[in-house]
Amino acid sequence: MCGIVGAVAQRNITPILLQGLKRLEYRGYDSCGVALHVDGALTRSRSTSRVADLESQVEKAGLSGFTGIAHTRWATHGAPASHNAHPHFSRERIALVHNGIIENHDELRAELSAAGYVFESQTDTEVIAHLVDSMYTGDLFETVQQAVKRLHGAYAIAVFCRDEPHRVVGARQGSPLIVGVGKGENFLASDAMALAGTTDQIIYLEEGDVVDLQLQRYWIVDGSGRPAEREVRTVHAHTGAAELGPYRHYMQKEIFEQPRAIADTLEGVTAVMPELFGDKAYNIFKKIDSVLILACGTSFYAGVTAKYWIEAIAKIPVNVEIASEYRYRESVPNPNALVVTISQSGETADTLAALKHARSQDMLNTLTICNVATSAMVRECKLAYITHAGVEVGVASTKAFTTQLTALFLLALSLAQVRGRLSEEEEAAHLKAMRHLPAAVTAVLALEPQIIAWAEEFSRKENALFLGRGMHYPIALEGALKLKEISYIHAEAYPAGELKHGPLALVTQEMPVVTVAPNDALIEKLKSNMQEVRARGGQLYVFADADSRISSSEGVHVIRLPEHYGMLSPILHVVPLQMLAYHTALARGTDVDKPRNLAKSVTVE
Ligand code: F6R
Repeated sequence: MCGIVGAVAQRNITPILLQGLKRLEYRGYDSCGVALHVDGALTRSRSTSRVADLESQVEKAGLSGFTGIAHTRWATHGAPASHNAHPHFSRERIALVHNGIIENHDELRAELSAAGYVFESQTDTEVIAHLVDSMYTGDLFETVQQAVKRLHGAYAIAVFCRDEPHRVVGARQGSPLIVGVGKGENFLASDAMALAGTTDQIIYLEEGDVVDLQLQRYWIVDGSGRPAEREVRTVHAHTGAAELGPYRHYMQKEIFEQPRAIADTLEGVTAVMPELFGDKAYNIFKKIDSVLILACGTSFYAGVTAKYWIEAIAKIPVNVEIASEYRYRESVPNPNALVVTISQSGETADTLAALKHARSQDMLNTLTICNVATSAMVRECKLAYITHAGVEVGVASTKAFTTQLTALFLLALSLAQVRGRLSEEEEAAHLKAMRHLPAAVTAVLALEPQIIAWAEEFSRKENALFLGRGMHYPIALEGALKLKEISYIHAEAYPAGELKHGPLALVTQEMPVVTVAPNDALIEKLKSNMQEVRARGGQLYVFADADSRISSSEGVHVIRLPEHYGMLSPILHVVPLQMLAYHTALARGTDVDKPRNLAKSVTVE
């Protein structure tokens, strides 16, 4: 999703801005641009292609400057077109980039149009540029503090002014923005990764902060205009520019990295103990009476799987809510619940807002399962478990999901232990199974050649159904999500027992029905559901555990996984579904790592 980089320095900052944009590319974008202060005027270059194209435009034009801002845009208001790309200018005096959504943009647009401002774009961002210009007092910092008071919605902005050549001002509310502190130079970015190699001295701005960047100083005020002290942290950000190695896409690479990612996530875990989640975890785990999980997309499905685990192992009731629903719902708050947010990025706007909503209702026992240690989610929760998936570049989440599941299983065990529901023998057995997970996943990855053969057939379909039961139902949901987001095949997942209550009407010879078939307590029930599909001519594609006694027959295609892996089986069963989606998308020729309309880090509502 949109990315910001800004700089004020005593050297040409163009390479820093462009490099920053490249490092933010993984978030997903459809246009990009850069603006610089050059010879007392604003100059910009914008592109609806990749950052590399912007770079050649900038090189050709010989653009260089000491003060500037740059942006990757993921379209919300207005199509991905050059005139909608940021930076936006106002009266050749103000240049501005923005992440987020301004909800009162229509009203402000009408007001500014009446005042004589001419709009060149359909964006809500141009409204902010004109607003800043209309309120400009000769002091940009002061002006921005006043201007943001008129904005409703979410924003991170970076702005500079023709008349103040050594100054960039930033502000944030609901979208992330960081300051990079240098020597005689200062930077802004939406993510520390954008500044890797330029500075590792990072300040995470807080909600409502406005920052004034000049060459030798930076100055931050909070939402009420009071000077704010913010910690400068040393952040060794990964660049994300990981080599593809033998892989064709990051998604494929990330699928194959799962054994390592799971091992890294479990590194140092020698025993089950609440302290794995933070110093205060024991006291919090002891007093809670339920769990509320908040997340979006794939992370939500990890949460649904965790519900099965926590209720079965720790016997604590669990609710799992889609963050974008929960944040606006009139729910019944329970201050004794453990609120768990799950997020790869730790910056997802809906999940952050859901967390805030829970806290505003006195639900203060907060824990996050997150892949980014420096993210807002981690900073805002009392407890955290950092998954060590490493940077995930592919938009479709894979290794983040399996590492989330790994951490959530540990959470189920820890909650059970605190309640005296985990014997030493059980603890040892679960830990042994967890330690063996990387090897077990490696065995599943070896199924790739068989999956490629299926993917060929799937690539010619336009619809697919996914079935699972119990803790494998969320795995079916995740398999369907993976297939639709990267191959654009319409896919739906159902608990297999639900089929006869409606979706069976869709089953014909044309409908592939992917079935997640672990050899668990529900296997016989699942086999009956499979018969219901076959009786209607549906084609079954079954991922069956070796010991599940399901064999191929007419209309029943089977790929065998290793023997049933007990409670951790969902972590194994999702892997072939990821590979099926990947190879189907490959066969259909889609842009696997950057599927249409999607962004990696969803920092707007
Ligand atoms: C799907 C996918 C998304 C994310 C969702 C939440 O492959 O990646 O559904 O899971 O946008 O993102 P995070 O986990 O960063 O909060």
